[in-house]
Amino acid sequence: MRSIVLLFVYTVCASDLTEYYDKRYKILLDEALLTVGGNISLSDKETAVNNCLMRHKFNEIDYWLNNPRYFNCSHHYFAYKDNIPSSKVYKIIKNIPKGAALHVHDMGLLGPDYLMNVTYLENLYVCFGSNLLLTFASKKPNTSCESQWQLMSEARRASNNIAKFDAELKKHFTLVVKNPDEVYPSIKETWGAFMQYFITVAPMLSYRPIWEQYFYDALKKFREDNIMYIEVRSILPSLYELDGTTYDPLITARTYKKVIKQFMREHKDFIGAKLIYAPSRRVNNAKLEDYILLARRIKESMPDTFAGFDLVGQEDIGSPLIEFVPRLLETSSEMSYFFHAGETDWYGTLTDENLVDAILLGAKRIGHAYALPKHPVILNEVIKRDIGLEINVISNTVLSLVRDIRNHPLSTFLAQGLPVVLSSDDPGVWEADPLSEDFYIAFVAVASRLSDLRMLKQLALNSIKYSALDSASKSRALRTFHFKWNDFINNFNCSMY
Ligand SMILES: *[C@@H]1O[C@H](CO)[C@@H](O)[C@H](O)[C@H]1NC(C)=O
Ligand SMILES: *[C@@H]1O[C@H](CO)[C@@H](O)[C@H](O)[C@H]1NC(C)=O
Ligand SMILES: *[C@@H]1O[C@H](CO)[C@@H](O)[C@H](O)[C@H]1NC(C)=O
Ligand SMILES: *[C@@H]1O[C@H](CO)[C@@H](O)[C@H](O)[C@H]1NC(C)=O
Ligand SMILES: *[C@@H]1O[C@H](CO)[C@@H](O)[C@H](O)[C@H]1NC(C)=O
Ligand SMILES: [Zn+2]
Repeated sequence: MRSIVLLFVYTVCASDLTEYYDKRYKILLDEALLTVGGNISLSDKETAVNNCLMRHKFNEIDYWLNNPRYFNCSHHYFAYKDNIPSSKVYKIIKNIPKGAALHVHDMGLLGPDYLMNVTYLENLYVCFGSNLLLTFASKKPNTSCESQWQLMSEARRASNNIAKFDAELKKHFTLVVKNPDEVYPSIKETWGAFMQYFITVAPMLSYRPIWEQYFYDALKKFREDNIMYIEVRSILPSLYELDGTTYDPLITARTYKKVIKQFMREHKDFIGAKLIYAPSRRVNNAKLEDYILLARRIKESMPDTFAGFDLVGQEDIGSPLIEFVPRLLETSSEMSYFFHAGETDWYGTLTDENLVDAILLGAKRIGHAYALPKHPVILNEVIKRDIGLEINVISNTVLSLVRDIRNHPLSTFLAQGLPVVLSSDDPGVWEADPLSEDFYIAFVAVASRLSDLRMLKQLALNSIKYSALDSASKSRALRTFHFKWNDFINNFNCSMY
């Protein structure tokens, strides 16, 4: 008797359970289809590559899952950056065509080793004091100096210990330290060091031939990281010559155009680069007026290279966009905006509200949009207007917005299939790759464990879709991308990883 009852119960459950499992499967499937890249289908060859990639990804993640102590990505980026190159997933990602880098800054593209080489060039003067001053000149500068202006070559020789001298000097060209938690206890110290980096390197890099060479070498390095197009934000400093001649910032903009042209001539597979004029946000309306006049002149002078306008600097302490709304609104009909907005942890502040103004001013893309999940109405507008979100995960961890990278809002952006592009902000300043490490960390530590090659492909496609290229150039860029992608797929050999 008893066994019959049990059998009856079991039968009912079985059909309920089947229905339950079906529903469960459907929910997961619906969600999988929604994620960035979730609706792409892969060819047989792509599937083979994906199997190899995912075998390594599961190995890495499942090891961390079982040994959370070794999940280094939950710590400071500086604590684990040296381990990244040994990851097989990373090695594969390095070789993947990644499309475009749409959010990077003029003087943060190349790392300290590059800048150290610049300090070995002749005619560089240095002044050691509470701040390090560096400038190229044909004779000793007469500007104020706490100690004395010296030729770098002479200071280095006089140090009697060149290795020590160079090690000290190099510290000015990087944020990377062994003990980040002590050196950078809060966002204030991090941004302080970050701003000091730009103050130190700007006068050295603004020497015209160096400015040109730096950008050329940056394009080279980005291309080697399998990037085919860049939109660079620049504050456009006045460039100078050894004899003290200084130029109108329009010349700085033209320099970009000149270098881009030369680089493209020498690298036929490179699609190009555009300039976003992005001066400091810590200004008043009078200064903003100057910015806009300059932006207008650049646009008139080089409409194909000029992509648009933005404002930079730590959002929490700079002027919020609301202060500039009347002028920015008036100008929105004549130029595209790519505003940094919502790069903050402070909910309900004016910084947080920059997201509102970015949308209302018609931004084509938003830089960071880190605070976006807290703003459902803005989020809907982002979807409706198809506004690209430029996400920079390493930047956000280095600049003290997030520690355990699994908590980065990118995970929800990816899950909801939002218009995301990945970029790297100032990779040189934290000694990261142009883009591969940002892709790697997003892929293994922010995205779903199940997200695969299709997500990487969609992110690359997005970087072209949301670029400032015109539609004919986008079609051409997509053709080049597919060519590179197929080349990568056809030459893939899993046993090489
Ligand atoms: C896949 O999703 C993207 C948006 O992420 C959309 O643009 C595209 O049309 C979708 N493709 C298919 C085949 O549904
Ligand atoms: C994590 O970091 C430690 C210390 O640097 C290193 O020994 C270990 O190999 C790293 N683990 C992984 C999985 O990269
Ligand atoms: C610095 O210069 C040396 C010697 O010319 C060169 O081998 C090295 O690649 C340069 N480093 C960088 C980062 O450009
Ligand atoms: C400093 O030098 C520049 C040219 O190199 C010159 O125009 C300027 O008058 C000098 N200033 C002083 C205070 O000597
Ligand atoms: C793949 O790489 C391995 C190891 O480098 C090599 O032995 C093998 O011949 C390669 N396979 C193909 C098809 O090239
Ligand atoms: Zn930025």
